Amino acid sequence: MEITLALIKPHVLRNTYAMQQIRALIAQNFTVLDQKEVHITKELSAKFYAEHRGKFFYHRLTSFMNSGPCYALILQSEACIKKWRGLLGPTKVFRAVYSDPDCIRALYGLSDTRNACHGSDSEESAMREIGILFPEFKLDAVSREV
Ligand code: CMP
Repeated sequence: MEITLALIKPHVLRNTYAMQQIRALIAQNFTVLDQKEVHITKELSAKFYAEHRGKFFYHRLTSFMNSGPCYALILQSEACIKKWRGLLGPTKVFRAVYSDPDCIRALYGLSDTRNACHGSDSEESAMREIGILFPEFKLDAVSREV
């Protein structure tokens, strides 16, 4: 079984309807191993988004993530990374709207920065991102058996 990090961005956490819909999708598709509201401080976002430092959207992205609480979940299922990213749809909201109008980003994304939710893009990223947002989580204790 695979695990991944899902991160719900501030504008979606404030939207009760969007949260109900996303929670229902998560419940249908995954086991939630841990979840919590998180405040993405400048220090946390510098670690979390280190690979994007220097890109034109870096300051916009880290300021937005710091603008209010986010909600982080550790999800588990078979092919969890691909499955969650499939439910999210493309990173760019205009692409999401045209290619997959029912995906999370098409429904609740407002811009490329405010694209509703994040999902780890690989097993390595998932381990790294879970380590940053859930430092107390015991990765070794998770069963990887299918
Ligand atoms: P997220 O899944 O949080 O991971 C990296 C984030 O960078 C991504 O979602 C987008 O919010 C943001 N991002 C990626 N590409 C762009 C872009 N071209 N313009 C603005 N933001 C971007």
